[in-house]
Amino acid sequence: MLSSQNPIGIFDSGVGGLSVLREIRNLMPAENIVYFGDQGHVPYGPRSMEQIQNFSEGITRFLLSHKSKIIVVACNTASAAALKHLRATFPNVQFVGMEPAVKPAAEKTQTGKVGVLATSATFQGALYASVVERFGAGVELFQHTCPGLVNQIEMGELDSPKTRAILEDALLPMMDKNIDTVVLGCTHYPFVIPLVERIVGDTVRVIDPAPSVAKQVKRLLEAGGVLNQNGKDASVRFFTSGDSDLVKSLLPLLLGADGEVETVTWKNDREIQ
Ligand code: DGL
Repeated sequence: MLSSQNPIGIFDSGVGGLSVLREIRNLMPAENIVYFGDQGHVPYGPRSMEQIQNFSEGITRFLLSHKSKIIVVACNTASAAALKHLRATFPNVQFVGMEPAVKPAAEKTQTGKVGVLATSATFQGALYASVVERFGAGVELFQHTCPGLVNQIEMGELDSPKTRAILEDALLPMMDKNIDTVVLGCTHYPFVIPLVERIVGDTVRVIDPAPSVAKQVKRLLEAGGVLNQNGKDASVRFFTSGDSDLVKSLLPLLLGADGEVETVTWKNDREIQ
């Protein structure tokens, strides 16, 4: 039986999902959390659907072994490649995924021109195509995959010349096309919002979907009667399949707080030891 004390399981290819964890913590500070960053395989963006599905399945099993009451796929790439597969494989588990926030962007844009930053796997997936079909009518979308940006963020380079150059390559041509809204379609990117804002100036709105995802998680927990309203000393456990010292060193920068990070190893593409 799931209870309100069971943790929320969250995963991403790396530290990106921490931008979602941050919003979940703000909204539901009493919730226990288990976070998995697959630094052993980051970046997911250039990988095949099948591989991302296998990794996502293995991580879901891992988070369920830690008694997660809900799984947040805090990664647009994994959501695009694997959410359907996960729902079919684990029919009794509740999942919340990410999708590029084309809907609010289309509602808000005045110029009718919107930039979308996401990985190539996200743009290629059926999920993005369906979001564009459902919400993108009458809006011109300019897409960019920002090659290398995820790795920069994994190294904690939120404001280095190289990070700036990658973002300028993506954003300046969009600015020339008169965009007034940018959608961050990768959970790593909210960590460079200050830099994005310096590049695009204050006439361009930047949309991070993480706060709405946190609200959706809360709604589902409430509906399921497992929202933790009176827990004290909520625990957050961080796991990585990569270098735990590196991830630990990034937590103060990305979350404003320290934390312990535990290492796990992959046995094969679908199983974590
Ligand atoms: N945080 C990711 C996303 O939301 C992962 C990017 C990657 O690993 O390439 O898409």
